[in-house]
Amino acid sequence: MSGLTTLAFLAVTAAGVSSSEMSDCSYLSLLTHLNLIQTNSPLSMMRPVKNWTTTTVVSLDMVLFGILEVDEMSQTVTTHVQTQMSWRNEFLNWNSSNFCGIKTLTVPRNMLWVPDVSIQEDASDTGSIQNSPLVTLTNDGLVSASGRQRLTTTCQFKLYLFPFDTQCCNITFGSMNYDAESMILRTINSEVALSSVSEQIMITQGEWELLNMTIIYYSFELKNVSENRLIYTVIIMRKPMLYVINLIVPLFYFVILDLASFFIRGEKLSFKVTVLLSISVLLLILQDMLPSTEAKLPLMASFCAWVFALVGLSILETMLIDFLLGLDGCCGNNAENAINNQEVEIQLEGNSHKEPSAAEERGQLGPVMKPSEVELLMLILEEVKVARIETGRHIKDDRKPGRYTRLVKIIDSVYFVLYFLNVVGYLLYLNMEWLGSYVSNKKE
Ligand SMILES: *[C@@H]1O[C@H](CO)[C@@H](O)[C@H](O)[C@H]1NC(C)=O
Repeated sequence: MSGLTTLAFLAVTAAGVSSSEMSDCSYLSLLTHLNLIQTNSPLSMMRPVKNWTTTTVVSLDMVLFGILEVDEMSQTVTTHVQTQMSWRNEFLNWNSSNFCGIKTLTVPRNMLWVPDVSIQEDASDTGSIQNSPLVTLTNDGLVSASGRQRLTTTCQFKLYLFPFDTQCCNITFGSMNYDAESMILRTINSEVALSSVSEQIMITQGEWELLNMTIIYYSFELKNVSENRLIYTVIIMRKPMLYVINLIVPLFYFVILDLASFFIRGEKLSFKVTVLLSISVLLLILQDMLPSTEAKLPLMASFCAWVFALVGLSILETMLIDFLLGLDGCCGNNAENAINNQEVEIQLEGNSHKEPSAAEERGQLGPVMKPSEVELLMLILEEVKVARIETGRHIKDDRKPGRYTRLVKIIDSVYFVLYFLNVVGYLLYLNMEWLGSYVSNKKE
């Protein structure tokens, strides 16, 4: 009996020993094997190479999740990106068959050396970076760390073609401390794969469309130290439809209204001033969108200024015409007034002769009028006559062209023709600049 139990005990211990030697299925033994149980400060401090001349190759992939905001005023682009870095740690590798087939292991990020890669154009808050607290180890010593970030990068905008513009923004990755001999940056996937992944994943693009993403490896010498950079160039294109509808079409519409107002007979001035006011509202909107630091003035701004100037000039022209017509009116008036006054007197005299007879006729039928009532009636009659003559004179003024009226007609038609040619010319120019570039960008 006792012999049996000792045999069984021996068998169990033998099985235990053999299993711990053959394969251990806990992470603990692997961590013990890698000497990662306690904080192993050399592992987190030094670049993980056995010979210091070995260069660490860090592969870095960036995927664009979204274009959140493009701020023309501060010249920044806010994107949502995910980065994944991987590099080889020469001290951490194991044979997976010794550890029950464990091939990957996650350890806290701060236990291992992690490359100090930063983005040169980064202008975001530190709170916007969210690095994974863990890094993944594989049995051949490959370490990978990932993080996502709400990334605000500075980017020099070229706004000449606004709102038909494409922007080309660099996101430059580089090590803060290591030179090109210690650490170089490469990518895991090709740029084609990365841009297609970004295009598929992209959730929010706002008014922008991702056209292309290219990768440049860039090395340069700085104070006899060679530096290495990995540059992602993101090319984005604005979707211009909203600006076309809200800005460009109304502006053209105002120009056309202003052109059409040449055919208004009568009061033009208040109409034109209203158009000018409406344009200044649009100018205010535009001012909120574009920075004033631009060396090459955006086409849109010069377009607005052009419309404003055109309408302003046409107001001036209307004023000039009004003034000239006024001159014509006052010069003709003196002579006409004299004639009219004579007419009034003659007519009144004639009427005064007739009036009593009419009263007499009526008097036979109705009650006889008192002399004071007749006088009152006469006064009213006089007023009415004067008023009628006044209006008649106005009509005569319009019909009868004076010296200045001819001049006014010439000025008006010459100005209209020039205005019209200017509008057509500028339209063609804008069409060439804007649509030409837009179509060529679309094709790319
Ligand atoms: C991006 O970087 C490349 C390489 O340094 C440079 O030629 C290009 O001008 C940069 N583009 C922008 C928009 O800064």
